[in-house]
Amino acid sequence: MRDWPRGVIPFGGDYNPEQWPREVWREDIAAMQRAGVTFVSLGIFSWSWVEPSDGTYDFGWLDEVMGLLAAADIAVDLATATASPPMWLAQAHPEIAPIDHDGQRLWPGSRQAWCPSSATFTAYATRLAEAMARRYHDHPALAMWHISNEYGCHNTPCFCDTCAVGFRDWLRQRYDSLDALNEAWGAAFWSQRYADWSQPLPPRRTPTFPNPGQTLDYRRYQSDALLQQFLAERAVLLEHSPGVPITTNFMTMRHFSHLDYHRWAAHLTEPVDRISTDHYVVDLLADPWAEQAFCGDLTRGIAGGGPWLLMEHSTSAVNWQPVNRPKPVGGTIRDSLTHVARGADMIGFFQWRASRAGAEKFHSALLPHAGEDSARFAEVCRLGEIAGRLGEVSGSRVESQVAILWDYDAQWATQGPALPSAQVQYPDLAIEIHRALRERHVPADVVYPGADLTAYRLIIVPTLYLVSDAHAAAIEAAVATGADVLVTYFSGIVDERDHIRLGGYPGAFRELLGVRSTEFAPLRPGEVVALSGAHSGSVWSEDVALAGAEAVLTFTEGPAAGHAAFTRYAVAPQGGSASGVRWYLATRPDRDTLAEIVGTLCASAGVEPVLPGAPDGVDLTRRRAADGRSWVFAINHTDLARTVPVTGVDLVTGRHTGGQCEVPAGGVAVVRED
Ligand code: GLA
Ligand code: ZN
Repeated sequence: MRDWPRGVIPFGGDYNPEQWPREVWREDIAAMQRAGVTFVSLGIFSWSWVEPSDGTYDFGWLDEVMGLLAAADIAVDLATATASPPMWLAQAHPEIAPIDHDGQRLWPGSRQAWCPSSATFTAYATRLAEAMARRYHDHPALAMWHISNEYGCHNTPCFCDTCAVGFRDWLRQRYDSLDALNEAWGAAFWSQRYADWSQPLPPRRTPTFPNPGQTLDYRRYQSDALLQQFLAERAVLLEHSPGVPITTNFMTMRHFSHLDYHRWAAHLTEPVDRISTDHYVVDLLADPWAEQAFCGDLTRGIAGGGPWLLMEHSTSAVNWQPVNRPKPVGGTIRDSLTHVARGADMIGFFQWRASRAGAEKFHSALLPHAGEDSARFAEVCRLGEIAGRLGEVSGSRVESQVAILWDYDAQWATQGPALPSAQVQYPDLAIEIHRALRERHVPADVVYPGADLTAYRLIIVPTLYLVSDAHAAAIEAAVATGADVLVTYFSGIVDERDHIRLGGYPGAFRELLGVRSTEFAPLRPGEVVALSGAHSGSVWSEDVALAGAEAVLTFTEGPAAGHAAFTRYAVAPQGGSASGVRWYLATRPDRDTLAEIVGTLCASAGVEPVLPGAPDGVDLTRRRAADGRSWVFAINHTDLARTVPVTGVDLVTGRHTGGQCEVPAGGVAVVRED
């Protein structure tokens, strides 16, 4: 094996040479070198090429490609090649096909047509992983193993009979008895009582609303089933290829919520495992950059605050949105460095060369259909140069005084159905608040409620509908040691079984916040209600009564008129110990109001921006190394040049800023501070 590229931010992407004739491979390698590519992810969808029939391997072509890459000093993140089972396996074992919600079988002919619970699949996948590990464990191109690909992207949830059996086993481990299961699922309701372990089912299509406890447990089970598939391959690699780092690419994007990545990350440990993710800009979002920045910070949270790897993003258009627009000139570099600014220590893309056939032939790549004679390839080469100069930031950590809590159980539970308002979408307020902080140049970590919260000055708890007793206690403990906290509506409502916390809302946080509501009054789609001052709210209101807290803003119209909309509760410190200020927000404020609220919170908590006096429209973060060196990343989202007050060498241009760093329109600066 070889080391992961050093002295640079590794730069490259998925390489699928099996889609091209041999002659193209040498051209590929030469063009990769011109572009400054230092790593590729190889073999992700190559199962049918390395194992063309059951138990017969053809490593010849892969040996050749690995040899070419080794000779070119390009590191390989080598896939176990198990993401998509080959036709021979689908034919021999039709039972590994996933079954959807309606009982429809998902056929081969696309990708990832395998059931998360299938032991047959595990047997074939681990056999291939072993063959790959035996063949390549000491290859001079091998730098990292890449297990499967984007677990759960297409094959979960599966509702097949194998999953039903797996689910029952999982339930028996979670609940000692059927009584405990019946209690957890609230099965007294609608005669759902289970009298035998053969009875629990996946939440297949039902006449009306399925049991929410069953649905929530099924999501947990599917995530765990895929985790077991990952761990099975990982165990094979540890045995047959010890010492080589291992990763699997997550999908920390707003629209993907199938896996509990915090639970996964608990099984991925240093020094073996690397957290990597894929991120694609979703054009349809009102503010794609807000989601992009948020997801970078979420990935860092999953990585425990340390560096992570950006395995994939796109140089330009994707092929899976209704309309696929290219990125503006400079957009490839800007998006890549946005991730590095948020802790990524690698810049990866799907894919090296744009395909000429297949379902992704219109997806952009490092090398476009047009070839090297294209503006995009020129930008790719420029990015390669920049990545080559950014090596010194590797291993440094992003600084933040603010935590935004994120929890997959809470997300799953708020995906309903049959909740007070379908307008409450779990990520909405989290991303809105994150965006308002970003606009003030205040970075935030997006972290699991079970993370260490003690070092933060401000903790944001957005829509944490489901919260365990332990997590509620951790939040309280952080406040007791001085952190300020903002809790937003529809938080603290249920426990981890999705059972209501009785006695008034917001359940778990009532006493902490010094407020109590007795009825929710969600607003209709498009409905906006006035708040005191020139403020307004939408989506939510409730009959907040003050029980210690004071009203900062009040609903002046709508179903909760006269009740507090935003409250503040400052408890006098006891015996010299600090106690943070507790804020409760009972509506979704308009953008200006939210900006004002976030300003108030930061001032109260003593949260500082990355740089004082920085211009609007520029994202700022600071990464700091253990030896104290620091780098300010400035991402200019405006179409005018902006001047950022920072002194040091800009690694993008190589020039000293002289105190005022000019960041071009749509451009980026990375300044090593003097
Ligand atoms: C995912 C996959 C890639 C490719 C891209 C397209 O991230 O991992 O194989 O399909 O999407 O955007
Ligand atoms: Zn299944």
